[in-house]
Amino acid sequence: MNCCCQYKSREEIFSQDNIDLGLIKAVLEKYRGDKGNLITVLQEAQEVYGYLPLSVLKHIADVFELKPAQVYGVATFYTQFRLTPVGKYLILLCQGTACHVNGSERIETVLLEELKIKPGETTADGLFTLSNVACLGCCSLAPVMMINGQAYGPLTTDRAVKIIKDLKAREISEGGEPA
Ligand code: FES
Repeated sequence: MNCCCQYKSREEIFSQDNIDLGLIKAVLEKYRGDKGNLITVLQEAQEVYGYLPLSVLKHIADVFELKPAQVYGVATFYTQFRLTPVGKYLILLCQGTACHVNGSERIETVLLEELKIKPGETTADGLFTLSNVACLGCCSLAPVMMINGQAYGPLTTDRAVKIIKDLKAREISEGGEPA
């Protein structure tokens, strides 16, 4: 069998991340028994953990009496859901049409250089994750990025790098490690 999970049972794969499942107890209580709210539950769980660990998907499946693969399928179908941890600052760089024609690729290039990561990755210090996304719904600001919910645009390459440098400087001044 050519599969990455060749040597692990499904149970092991969905339970290996040592996550405190109690953190979403209230969320699960609120929606228990209503499978129609699965997406809302996943959204709220992601707010709690910052992403959707596999053990959380399994736990949600158990509570809602669904197969883990069903919940995993929903979580991977929608781009709003993340299955890996993200940095303290989640950068959503728009690659929608308006942003694309206004130079979002150049913005991406300088940001990746500044952060020393590839698209979708997190910096080694855990501070920044850069994710390319479709239209953020604020095309008048194109090219635009959103960091932890705040939109920045219209961007130039210099401005984009400065925003990152400013965040790094703030982290240092607040006692964090340099990025
Ligand atoms: S295309 Fe970038 S915000 Fe709409």
